[in-house]
Amino acid sequence: MPTEPRVAVIRGDGIGADVTDATLNIINAALNKVGASPFTCDDIHAGAAYFAETGRDIETDGETRAGDADAIFLGAIGLPSIRHEDRTEISPHLRLRDRFQLYAGVRPVRAYPNAPQRLADPRAAGLDLVIIRESTEGLFYTAAVHNRSIVEGEVTAPDAVSDIMRITASTTRKLHEFAFNMTRRRRDRGRAGKLTCVDKANVFKSQAFFRTLFDEVAQKHQDIDTSYNYVDAMALDMVRQPWEFDVMVMENMFGDILSDLAGGLVGGMGMAACGEIGDETGLFQPAHGSAPDIAGTDRANPLAAILSGAMMLDYLAQKCDLPLYEQAAGLIEDAVAKGFAANALRPMEFGGDMGTRAVTDEVLTQIANG
Ligand code: IPM
Ligand code: MG
Repeated sequence: MPTEPRVAVIRGDGIGADVTDATLNIINAALNKVGASPFTCDDIHAGAAYFAETGRDIETDGETRAGDADAIFLGAIGLPSIRHEDRTEISPHLRLRDRFQLYAGVRPVRAYPNAPQRLADPRAAGLDLVIIRESTEGLFYTAAVHNRSIVEGEVTAPDAVSDIMRITASTTRKLHEFAFNMTRRRRDRGRAGKLTCVDKANVFKSQAFFRTLFDEVAQKHQDIDTSYNYVDAMALDMVRQPWEFDVMVMENMFGDILSDLAGGLVGGMGMAACGEIGDETGLFQPAHGSAPDIAGTDRANPLAAILSGAMMLDYLAQKCDLPLYEQAAGLIEDAVAKGFAANALRPMEFGGDMGTRAVTDEVLTQIANG
């Protein structure tokens, strides 16, 4: 008997609250439309503003409660004006990735009609790809847990500071396994179904290891077309011929950078949805930041958050055995696509006339008519 899911909600900083409210609105409408009961929310305070107030970056029991939920939704965390002594920003989010081992960062990139296309080539109109960014180790390893011990490789001598690129077999095997399975699912839904391993195996031992593990996992998935690309060449191809790619898998920092680049190709960060998935739970967040300059002014584009919310519904559908949740996710994705096709979604982020509420209302209208 499926149980009613529980979602930990972290609105966080800046526009985090604006886009989270918009997303919860949309999700409730979609669940209602398909006749599914809503999930319960557990609001957790966290972020840079919370840190400035309390000296803690998340509520005392916040991490435990986040882990008790079936999924976590996060608006945005971080304020450039509030930092640790070493000048890095407040990022409890990185610790959540580490604590719950959310290794598979899924970042879909899709072109919509009437949304800006930064590439003149007509093939850019059909862009539809996914970056899978490992999200717990790689070059973020020392940053994941703030001030992770020097014993584990961080050097903080006065005249040199090192972060390390850590690639472990256990996480990387799971990551590649996830990537192959996602590629197959996409192929079954009519997409290209090709997987590219993006690395820097020509230079770094850790990256050669990443590729070796890719080859090893590929043996079990011989029905999937694979290729390799060095990360610098991938940056070039992302601009030159992104339509040649379907699913790409890479270490943490490469994925952080290339997913912003890819988001730019289809408009901007307001389109950059993200799900970070581990074996036990998933965290869903728009990959844009907190944009404090426009917080609370009804100008943020909520679509990345809304699309991340749809990813969360898909995830909950599988995890909690709730097929209606998958339908609701599809309804939201279609509503966004139809809204753009009708040129009825014109976010201010792209020079349009629609703020957070107007964009949300249009998606609601599309859902109602869907
Ligand atoms: C992202 C963000 C985060 C990251 C920041 C806010 C810590 O840029 O989700 O891509 O670097 O992972
Ligand atoms: Mg980023």
